[in-house]
Amino acid sequence: MKTVLVTGGAGFIGSNLVRWILHHRDWRVVNLDALTYAGNLENLRDVEQDPRYVFVHGRIEDAQLVTRLLEEYAVEGIIHCAAESHVDRSILSAAPFYETNVRGTLVLLEAARAYGIKRFLHVSTDEVYGSLGPDDPPFTEESPLKPNSPYAASKAAADCMVRAFVHTYNMPAIIARCSNNYGPYQFPEKLIPLMITNALADEPLPVYGDGHQVRDWIYVEDHCRGLVAAYEQGVVGEVYNFGGRSERRNIDVVRAILQLLGKPESLIRHVPDRPGHDRRYAIDCTKAERELGWTPTVTFEEGLAWTVEWYLHNRAWIESVRSGEYRRYYEQQYSWRLQEGAQV
Ligand code: NAD
Ligand code: DAU
Repeated sequence: MKTVLVTGGAGFIGSNLVRWILHHRDWRVVNLDALTYAGNLENLRDVEQDPRYVFVHGRIEDAQLVTRLLEEYAVEGIIHCAAESHVDRSILSAAPFYETNVRGTLVLLEAARAYGIKRFLHVSTDEVYGSLGPDDPPFTEESPLKPNSPYAASKAAADCMVRAFVHTYNMPAIIARCSNNYGPYQFPEKLIPLMITNALADEPLPVYGDGHQVRDWIYVEDHCRGLVAAYEQGVVGEVYNFGGRSERRNIDVVRAILQLLGKPESLIRHVPDRPGHDRRYAIDCTKAERELGWTPTVTFEEGLAWTVEWYLHNRAWIESVRSGEYRRYYEQQYSWRLQEGAQV
């Protein structure tokens, strides 16, 4: 049985990816996650007993730990999801973004190269391309890198390092760049889960500026399927864009959520804009469709309805995240092995 190392597997996309792999492939998955505020082992409760699943608490910047895992589990390849992922946090403090997204990716690349990894899928973002005007065509893989936030800059720097490792050392790496994901288990700091959880609590919904910024939304499972397709079939050194072909203005997303929940639009509050706010993202994903046989299958209306439904049926998850209780789950479950790097 082949083994893949997924980094950041306790986060939003990572946990959906680990679940997707365990359901659709006969692979062993080693999940290396630092359990920052965004890492939540409750996201994987339903698969944690699977004998093909191993969780390891630790940081990607820990070269010794990464090397030990690669050797101990005879890892075939890495799917690198771990990151500091929230733009607003990067505006408040850029340093953690440099540490994990840039330095962490470099440590991982070096360890993978020394070990002789067969496959390295770097999970990047469309934000590396910068912002589009209203009539610009969507980003292609050839669009120049023009990152605008410290988060986007750290991801672009990591992308450049991955590219350099391919070019210089023949590292068998591939880069995936996806648009805005939504779906179950997303931490309620991002637009859609924040609006759902605030509306459920009858709290104000903060819309930045005029709310006319546009994002291209993709249901997280579509992205996960694309990541596995890129891991299995992607050509080394290539970049693949993934998107949902679902451009929506923020204000329209927020209104749709309120409508699904039967809550009033009076909850909407226009608040000062995010500094340096990118106006529009849109992804041209024809290369992934053509070369990987992948296509997004979930419409925005369908995916948003499922997502709202998921949050409605998982109030305990919301409560545990909002109260900080989820931070204690790991300690309760694994209190007997609390060292960093402990395998659980
Ligand atoms: P997330 O913030 O929900 O999860 C990140 C995970 O990484 C957490 O479990 C966290 O504990 C872990 N982590 C952070 N620093 C670490 C470190 N130093 N070592 C080990 N683990 C660490 O993020 P997400 O939204 O699931 O995004 C996952 C990846 O996908 C990121 O690389 C992000 O840039 C990229 N991406 C996200 C989106 C999106 O819309 N969310 C879109 C495109 C690309
Ligand atoms: O495009 C992919 C990127 O999408 C990923 O790389 C990032 O990890 C992910 O966080 C996301 O970045 P965004 O900044 O686009 O996502 P966020 O959910 O933070 O915001 C979406 C839009 O909603 C954006 O225009 C800002 C706006 N917004 C966000 C929040 C949290 C609001 O108007 N109010 C809010 O409270």
